[in-house]
Amino acid sequence: MSESTQLAGKHVLLGLSGGIACYKSAELVRLLIKAGATVQVMMSEAAEAFITPVTMQALSNQPVLMSQWDAREPNNMAHINATRRADVMLVAPASADFIAKLVQGRANDLLSLTALARPAQRCALLVAPAMNREMWAHPATQRNIAQLRADGAVVLGPGSGDQACGEIGDGRMLEAAELRDELIAFFQPKLLAGKTLLITAGPTFEPIDPVRGLTNRSSGKMGFAIARAAAEAGAEVTLVAGPVHLATPRGVRRVDVQTALQMYDAVLPRAAAHDVFVATAAVADWRPAQMTEHKIKKDGSSASTAPSFELTENPDILAAVAALADKPFCVGFAAESRDLLKHAREKLLRKGVPLIVGNLGPATFGRDDNALLLVDAQGQRELPHNDKLSLARELIREISARLQEKL
Ligand code: C5P
Repeated sequence: MSESTQLAGKHVLLGLSGGIACYKSAELVRLLIKAGATVQVMMSEAAEAFITPVTMQALSNQPVLMSQWDAREPNNMAHINATRRADVMLVAPASADFIAKLVQGRANDLLSLTALARPAQRCALLVAPAMNREMWAHPATQRNIAQLRADGAVVLGPGSGDQACGEIGDGRMLEAAELRDELIAFFQPKLLAGKTLLITAGPTFEPIDPVRGLTNRSSGKMGFAIARAAAEAGAEVTLVAGPVHLATPRGVRRVDVQTALQMYDAVLPRAAAHDVFVATAAVADWRPAQMTEHKIKKDGSSASTAPSFELTENPDILAAVAALADKPFCVGFAAESRDLLKHAREKLLRKGVPLIVGNLGPATFGRDDNALLLVDAQGQRELPHNDKLSLARELIREISARLQEKL
């Protein structure tokens, strides 16, 4: 599934209440449409003070709904019709005042009327608060947020950082891309709700001297996609990452490491407390036996000899986790350049794990797509060529099915 189809077929009712974060909602409309959604914008009177309906209409390609007296609706019931057509109602930005209205069930304008008249079972309410940090921290707002959650709404954020008022703290509306990703996640089935996953990803870096080291070409993309897919499926995810240049998927706890030994130290004490361990990291098999304290220098003479150094083996993290008495469900990866099935089957036995995921290493390193071969004691199944996120979601389905079997 490409980025442009993540929200295909979804109809989003996007409500704007008053707040400076309305400028981000313009970008949000673009991103939602780019992801394949259709968007109906609804604005409160206060929102119109911050951004014009003209902008929002042009971006959403639909007239903006603003008044409960809008005569364009044949039955004159915009507040009913809007949510009957929508798969989800997202209020972004949600001001402190609008949140208070939601909590009280007040319905004195189109946006609040619509939220109240929403069929809660089939059109969820997602709310992205945006306000000054003092307003957010105020006990009244915190009470309202707790009540809003208790009433079934999903609260997205808020984020933290610089605020339009010049202060710094909690209360910023999430960025447009973050809200898009939250929406994509919202529509994923919650197959791993209540489960905990520990995932390793990326290469390791084994220093030779302060500036050089041994590493490999793993980009970490597959592991990060699995972490994202697991979080989307409702799991609590900890991602132990080697040196990679990738953004942490939303909602994922990340632990950065450099070397195989550091990865081992990060994983082993945590592993037993998790339901599932997925080892995607391309852990270096060997490390220099000693790290030279200072940079190894050429002496400049034509007779200079290349330095040599001894290698020593790194511990096998996956095998160590699989040997724990209270081990999680372990999934290993096999990146091979040939004979994928044979090597994957061999690894299944050697590592003592119930599932090995094979992929052809050189063909996938750094790419956004891949093809996987799932190998377990029963047999094998191919997940054909696709983008890494779609494959990750399929793998999550397979893992959740195996967890069900274990119950
Ligand atoms: O032994 P090999 O590297 O071929 O096995 C690959 C699988 O084992 C992957 O899941 C990888 O993350 C894991 N592994 C590990 N620690 C190592 C080597 C590999 O966890 N030292």
